[in-house]
This record gives sequence, structure tokens and C-alpha cells, in this order.
Amino acid sequence: MRLKSLILAAGKGTRMKSDLPKVIHKVNGIPMVKKILNELNKLNVEENILILGHKKELILNELEDIKYVTQEQQLGTGHAVLQAKELLKDYNGDVMILCGDTPLLRSETLKEMYDYHKKTKSITTILTSIYEKPFGYGRIVKENKNVVGIIEEKEASDEIKKIKEVNAGVYCCDSSELFKALDKITNENEKGEYYLTDIVKIQVSENKKVSSFILDNNEEILGVNSKIELAKASKVLRKRKNNELMENGVIFMDPETTYIEENVQVGKDTLLYPTVILQGNTKIGEKCEIIGNTRIINSNLGNSITIESSVIEDSIIEDLVTMGPFAHLRPKSHLKNKVHIGNFVEVKKSTLEPGVKAGHLTYLGNATIGKDTNIGAGTITCNYDGTNKFNTIIGENVFIGSSSMLVAPLTIGDKALTGAGSVITKDVPANALAVERTKQLTKLKWRK
Ligand code: UD1
Ligand code: CA
Repeated sequence: MRLKSLILAAGKGTRMKSDLPKVIHKVNGIPMVKKILNELNKLNVEENILILGHKKELILNELEDIKYVTQEQQLGTGHAVLQAKELLKDYNGDVMILCGDTPLLRSETLKEMYDYHKKTKSITTILTSIYEKPFGYGRIVKENKNVVGIIEEKEASDEIKKIKEVNAGVYCCDSSELFKALDKITNENEKGEYYLTDIVKIQVSENKKVSSFILDNNEEILGVNSKIELAKASKVLRKRKNNELMENGVIFMDPETTYIEENVQVGKDTLLYPTVILQGNTKIGEKCEIIGNTRIINSNLGNSITIESSVIEDSIIEDLVTMGPFAHLRPKSHLKNKVHIGNFVEVKKSTLEPGVKAGHLTYLGNATIGKDTNIGAGTITCNYDGTNKFNTIIGENVFIGSSSMLVAPLTIGDKALTGAGSVITKDVPANALAVERTKQLTKLKWRK
């Protein structure tokens, strides 16, 4: 089997009303074109080739080393494919052509379609489906059950408009036959474009075999041309993702209101409450409980963790940690086993060794905190002097009194203690008590 893919992505996507090219709009957290490439990569495709034009740099920024050809002017889908003619001139296998705006297609479908193409020995196979409301799609015209042409909405007569079998915009083609037919298409139509779909009538007129592979699940072929369709596509992918996780043992209180992006992994028996949002390359272990209004981005969580109403970005959390409600881990935070972070605690670029507790109202930035240390309510690491950031190093089993201001750079030794309300500016040795406070003045009967 020899198979290459061509993905059409040069168009502007005018109907998206966007400054971004259409195909890098994200569906459930992943650029549409990337989603298509991921599916193609599950097949044995020798090479994927993109046809780029409008704002191609922005598209290339989203993809790692991808082969592409440029279509300088967007003169239609047929003209787009022609841009790859030179690149494929010595190639004699099949080409699968897809559009960059159909992100719901699954690799299984593409594989079945390709197998059908080979089995029927067609030179072109079109992926189609049945829509009750086929508006906007090219219609599949058949005579005696054989495909004889595709007619675009704009060219369709009232009779043709009634046809419910539509073109998904995916084709398997014999490469050399494809380019032979493309050399014959013209732009004499309503839009003045070179339509790829016109290869069908040319090949049929030359008695070559063109087939349609009808897909039962018409949801998969949704073409995203507007922000409404973008939301629809995201919803479908989200549902697929949540179903896949449930099949692998994840528990959802309400899958309809739980938002999990494409690349997220979640372990079995983890319970997700409504309104949880898991994004990017987040990985969550087993038996965790993630409770409402929590958003986790690009983070790695172990097992048996409980998190309530918190935000976690680019961080690592180990087993048995409890966090929230209303805590915030900013990038490069690392909470080790059994750490507890309570209400209104913010942690940034800090490591909390096993058993550290910071129950309430605290900011820990650029800090390393030793095993079993307790951080009192209202503690702040004063890590910034307006120009530079400084580190705070706290040992094991330390007791930081409530409302301590720890002015960095600062080192506090093992088992040391700071008095509540102290502004600590000098290092504190192990086992020492540091208090920084004026003596209390008490005036008796002051209010009499
Ligand atoms: C196309 C099909 C239609 C099908 C539908 C399925 C044609 C003529 N029509 O219509 O039969 O039902 O897809 O979704 O092919 N593109 C380029 N260069 C161009 C023009 C388009 O690369 O010059 C790319 C676009 O970026 C897009 C894809 O081709 O990714 C499809 O173009 P679009 O304008 O969305 O075609 P439709 O009108 O949806
Ligand atoms: Ca389209």
C-alpha cells in the first residue's frame, strides 16, 4: 500500500470572521489541522502534505516539521491540489485529500474508506453522508447508483438541492489519474473557482471508476466554516473524550458540564465534579477527587489527591495532596506527598516537601520548604524588590508564626520558629526562635 495525504488549508475562512486562519482555530483544545494530522498518523500514511496560503506562517507555528506547498492565490480547491502536482510527479500510489476544516473525522473511518477504495478498484472514492438539511455542501449526483458528479450549492438547481447525499470533502485518488483530470478542470462556474469536485464528471465521462463511500454517522463529516460550527465540533469531541475516559474507569458527576481537552489523561476511579476544566497536557492519576470550578492546565498530578475550586498551571502535585478551596498554583510549583494547601494560598515556583501545611491566606514564591513544616496564616515570602526575585529556603519541621513577612533572600534552619507578626530579614539558625515586634503597650481604663 502506498498512501500520501494532502490537506487543503490555504483558504481564508471568511465566514469565521477572524484574524486567524481557519484551520488553527482550536476544537476542544487542539488546532483543527493538528487534529486531522493526528488521525492521519494512526494510518500508514507515507507523508502528509499541507496546501498553505493565507497566513501560512501562523499555521506552520502550530506544527512541527511538516511538508507543505504554497498556493499563492486561492483559486479554488482544485487549484489548491494542483499545487502539489510537481511534488508528486514521480509518485504512483494513492493520495487521500482532506480539508483542514473537518476535524471530526476518525482514523477508523479514513481507514475503512481507503480499504473500500482498494477493494472496489476505484480511481476516485468520495466520502459522503446523508444530511436531512444538506445546505452548503456539494451534492452527490448518481445515475443507477453510480456517482456521476458533484454539484456545489451555488450551482445547484432546485432538483439537485433536494439530494441529501453530500460530499464530505475527503477523497481517495489514484495520484496520476487525479492530476490528469485536474489538468482538464475550468473555472467556468458561479464562484469562478477551480473546483476539485469537477474531477468526478471528467473521470466518469472517460469511463473510469468513481465510487462513494457512505458514512452512517454524518456527525463526523461536519465542516467548520463558522464559529457556530466550531462550537458544535468542540462539543462532539468533548463528548467523545469524556466517553473514552468513562470507558477507562473515570467517574463523572455530570459529563455534560465537564470540559476535558483532547490530550488530557485521567486515571481510573478519579471523580470529576461538574465545571471542572482540564487543559493542555494535563495528567491526573487514580482515585483523585476534583471538585467544581477547578481549572488545571499542563500539570501532572499523582493519585488520591483532593482539589476543590482551584487553579493549577504548569505544576506537579504528588500523591495524597489536599488543596483548596480557592488555592492557586502558578507555574513550576511542586507539592510533594501529603502537602496541604488551604483557602487563598498562592504558590509560585516553589517546592513544598512532604507533609508541608499552609492552611490559609499565604503567598509562597521562589521558596523551598522542608518536610513537615507548618506555615501560619497570612505568611508572605517577600521575594521581589521591584527589580529582582530572591529565594527563601525553609528547613524541616519549622513553625512559621501567623502573618510572618519573610524578606528574601532568607534561610531558616530546621525546627526554627518565627513569632506571629514578625518581619524576618535575617537568617534564622536551626532550633532558634526569631521574633521581631515592639513591646505591647497596654493603657488601663483607657476607655472609661
Ligand atoms: C467543499 C466542497 C464541497 C463539500 C465541502 C465539505 C469544493 C468545490 N467543494 O466546499 O463539495 O461538500 O467542502 O466540507 O471542493 N481551500 C484551499 N484553497 C482554495 C480554496 C479552499 O486550500 O483555493 C481549502 C480551505 O482552506 C478549506 C478547504 O479547502 O480547508 C475547503 O474549502 P471551503 O471553502 O471550506 O469549501 P466548501 O465551500 O466548504
Ligand atoms: Ca468547508
